[in-house]
Amino acid sequence: MSQDVSEEGMSQTDFTRLAQYPGSGCEKYDRRGEIFGREDVIPLWVADMDFPAPDFVTEALAERLADGAFGYAKPDAGHFEAIAGWLAGQHDWRVAPETIVPVPGVVPAMAMAIRAFTSRRARVIIQPPVYFPFFQVVRDQGRTLVENPLLEQESSDGGRRYVMDFEALEAQASEAEMLLLCNPHNPGGRAWNADELGRVAAICARHDVMVISDEIHMDLTYPGIRHTPFAEVANASGCRWFTVTAPGKTFNTAGIGGGYAVIPDAGIRERFDRERRGMHLGEGSVFGLTALKAAYRHGSAWPGELMAHIAANRDRVIEAIADLPIEAMVPEATYLLWLDCRGMGLSDAATDPEDRALQRFFVEKAGLGLSQGIIFGEPGRGYMRINLATPTGVIDRAMAQLRAAWQAH
Ligand SMILES: Cc1ncc(COP(=O)(O)O)c(C=O)c1O
Repeated sequence: MSQDVSEEGMSQTDFTRLAQYPGSGCEKYDRRGEIFGREDVIPLWVADMDFPAPDFVTEALAERLADGAFGYAKPDAGHFEAIAGWLAGQHDWRVAPETIVPVPGVVPAMAMAIRAFTSRRARVIIQPPVYFPFFQVVRDQGRTLVENPLLEQESSDGGRRYVMDFEALEAQASEAEMLLLCNPHNPGGRAWNADELGRVAAICARHDVMVISDEIHMDLTYPGIRHTPFAEVANASGCRWFTVTAPGKTFNTAGIGGGYAVIPDAGIRERFDRERRGMHLGEGSVFGLTALKAAYRHGSAWPGELMAHIAANRDRVIEAIADLPIEAMVPEATYLLWLDCRGMGLSDAATDPEDRALQRFFVEKAGLGLSQGIIFGEPGRGYMRINLATPTGVIDRAMAQLRAAWQAH
């Protein structure tokens, strides 16, 4: 069952249909009471999409379901070929199938990497504001977190964008063992370019800091923008590295799970694989493997269609907030838009609920459930992250509520 949102100009893929809705067992809708204290906010928080996965994925899953065979699954040769084909076709990234290692998810793979490749006293660098499990996954393994905050810089279009603080990184790298890189970056939406990634690789090579590149948003670049795999600069630099990614963000199959690491270095691959096997997590679920193969074999046109829809939503939000004291950081990638709300003059404390005027405004006055910027680290204070992967009708309703709430403020 699903709900329709009436809207003009339906695309071939149905970007107008809400596949997630209250009571469908999805986090985004069904945890609203717990997270926002209200069940009726328009939920624009969790990073998944409201519309259905593409037909070629749901059809493959339905076929598998009809088989009725749900025993232990094993990725076959076609699985690795599908991944290699996808990376070559979408990103001009050639990988040998034997360098691909299945993992249950990107964050679990980062946990394994930290355990396998760092000492107990290791310092691990992250670049906030960043996807909040980056903080937790380091702390959960008992390692010391080192923050290398991104810097805001004026961009060529007159807006602002994040850049890396290479000077600080160089100093921090001398005492660190690992860097968790978010490429493209969530929540800032940067698709790091070859020059930036090359500098990261050179610094990390100089100080023998291993780089784990999270490229889960790699397929979600806006029209005209290319994702640069870290692999492209890494080998020449001599740094130790591997990349971990998944089809879940691109095809809206995150709840099914399943990802993979690309580890060209045989020694690193063997050590990682030992850690992975030691966890006894298996090599993927029947449905995760089915979804990945279908997506990667049949989905080459999908990211383009999807991002055209997302770009339209992005532009609608930017237009709607043009005369509000909110500034969007125009993203190069991801369906997430990072909103600088500091101009609203509302306080934004991390923990004290009495002092969360910014969040209270969005929830109580505007009826919107966004992600609070502060959860992505201190540089996110005063920001909110909005998820654009929803029908345009939902975005328009959300913007109307925001504008009305600010006018009444
Ligand atoms: C940068 C980033 N990495 C990883 C994940 C989650 O990956 P997984 O569910 O495979 O652990 C997300 C989800 O939002 C993300 O934005």
